[in-house]
Amino acid sequence: MKRDFLSIADYSREEIEEIFQITKDLKDKTKNRTKHHLCEGLTMSMIFAKPSARTRISFETGMVQLGGYALYLSPNDIGIGKRESVKDIARVISRYNDIIMARLFDHEHILELAKYASVPVINGLTDYNHPCQIMADMYTVKEHFNRIENLKITYIGDGNNVANSWINLAAKLPMHLVICSPSGYEPDKTTVDYAKNQGISQIEVLSDPIESVKDADVIYTDVWASMGQEEEAAERKKVFMKYQINDELLKHADPNAKVMHCLPAHRGDEITDSVIDGPQSIVFDEAENRMHVQKAIIVKLLGKS
Ligand code: CP
Ligand code: NVA
Repeated sequence: MKRDFLSIADYSREEIEEIFQITKDLKDKTKNRTKHHLCEGLTMSMIFAKPSARTRISFETGMVQLGGYALYLSPNDIGIGKRESVKDIARVISRYNDIIMARLFDHEHILELAKYASVPVINGLTDYNHPCQIMADMYTVKEHFNRIENLKITYIGDGNNVANSWINLAAKLPMHLVICSPSGYEPDKTTVDYAKNQGISQIEVLSDPIESVKDADVIYTDVWASMGQEEEAAERKKVFMKYQINDELLKHADPNAKVMHCLPAHRGDEITDSVIDGPQSIVFDEAENRMHVQKAIIVKLLGKS
């Protein structure tokens, strides 16, 4: 049975920790420039229905470092679900490539892609979630705090795909997760209920940023208008302004708290220059770890670890 990486909800705590162990090994090898061609001669199609910097660059570079090859298919290329049905594309790519990574709008489409592909499918973001991002984020947290348990993670902003993946992770690893969003922009309720019902973590959905950052180990944010929501950006900015991560808000938090952002950042909106460039920010470690974690996911799915 082939395995996909579509949601953290599909993985056990043991598997998540195994991915982190593989990540550590591959990151060390990358830093030491030790050859690790675990995927020699294998190929990956990367389907992008939305723009990307980190996801494209980290997957493509990572696959080359593993001795494989990655093809970039831009939003203009395949027209998945428009020019051609999802299930036909899934079957066709499975005849050419060993693995697929896709960034799509509709989460149903990634599920359908995985259903009809005979090769593993990795979710590189949908409107619903962004699991590779949160795996890299948690790995980064682990590096900075030397543990993965019982940290307080406060996500401030839109209850979007990134927030949903944090909630899915909180269903697996014990943490105190606070999602602080304005009314009407809370995360997916089914996901929150599912995660709370697992009884692993303390999960709160709050609306007051000052209350939310108290005693947080990590303060996290993301854009207020995600890809596909550009027309709502001006309206959202009015609603979200008091959710900005700035020096004033950080005064209410532990001075040792780390600040994270999945990037791309809208500097001056959800986060100020002084915070993202300041001493508490670990956003570039976070961006780097996308590549190391994704390489671990690839080798695990291809049975090469
Ligand atoms: N964080 C992230 O996924 O970045 P890109 O949209 O640039 O890939
Ligand atoms: N929530 C953002 C994440 C970008 C990596 C978006 O979907 O655009």
